[in-house]
Amino acid sequence: MDKQRLAGRKALITGAAQGMGAAIAKYWAAQGAEVCLGDLNIEGIKKVADEIIADGGKATYVKLDVTNEEDAAAAVQHTVDTFGEINLLLNNAGVNKPLFFPDITKSNYDFIMGVNAWGKLNVMQKAANQMIKQGKKDYVYKIINVGSILSREAFVDVTVYTMSKHAVLGLIKAGAKSLMEHNITVNGYAPGVVRTEMWEQLDRDLVEIGMFEKPGQSMDSIAENMILMKRYSYPEDVVGTAAFLASAESDYMTGQLLMIDGGMVIQ
Ligand SMILES: NC(=O)c1ccc[n+]([C@@H]2O[C@H](COP(=O)([O-])OP(=O)(O)OC[C@H]3O[C@@H](n4cnc5c(N)ncnc54)[C@H](O)[C@@H]3O)[C@@H](O)[C@H]2O)c1
Repeated sequence: MDKQRLAGRKALITGAAQGMGAAIAKYWAAQGAEVCLGDLNIEGIKKVADEIIADGGKATYVKLDVTNEEDAAAAVQHTVDTFGEINLLLNNAGVNKPLFFPDITKSNYDFIMGVNAWGKLNVMQKAANQMIKQGKKDYVYKIINVGSILSREAFVDVTVYTMSKHAVLGLIKAGAKSLMEHNITVNGYAPGVVRTEMWEQLDRDLVEIGMFEKPGQSMDSIAENMILMKRYSYPEDVVGTAAFLASAESDYMTGQLLMIDGGMVIQ
């Protein structure tokens, strides 16, 4: 691994207590990035930060509810106070709760759209405003928003999540157009089925609403019937693309959403 690849990158990573956010934080830190971990789960981010520091990396953490404006501003400020500036944002925190169309409620909508759509805009705006304040540098500021196959596809049991991830694609496009004049690029990547706590919970919820009969069936069935590569993925399948988008190698890209889904959505 190139320990200098992400040297000088000072990042805020949301939803970093577990799953892909935690895996990417470790992967980036191992390549020289300084990472501030934000999450509702303080114990989780402290543990991940301790592991990074024990491995010789630079990490700090901050309590963050991405739906809260004061929290978002404070998380950006904590990154700046700790590392001197912020030049990279991984807008990763996300939630899901499946319901069939007739059963969708306002609270289900508010919960998912609140975190996945407003939460991403909220943290992105606070980070971008700080980058604008810092002024143009001789490197590109980077914002990475995490989408999903459901940024480009739709399934019947996850209408609101589909709406929220289409909103992420809109945010990438509009953000790229809004921020390029400040030397900020906005891109994203879109995982497919990734075995994290989010999918374990989703698997339980899908059994509860009657979409699948038994636990574990959803992942295997989707892998068999919908993924060209015939397997679901793990956070390790995603970290490389996230590092590419964080590095100078992707400097001439903006407004793009890269699929990392084993061939589920091909456009
Ligand atoms: N797991 C998948 O199959 C999959 C597929 C496509 C996209 N994604 C997306 O990837 C991202 C990461 O997913 P994951 O599978 O690692 O999830 P995860 O559930 O394992 O981790 C998500 C993290 O976000 C945090 N979080 C939730 N709400 C928050 C809030 N309001 N403020 C701050 N933190 C909050 C949680 O505490 C948790 O640590 C999400 O945006 C998700 O939508 C996941």
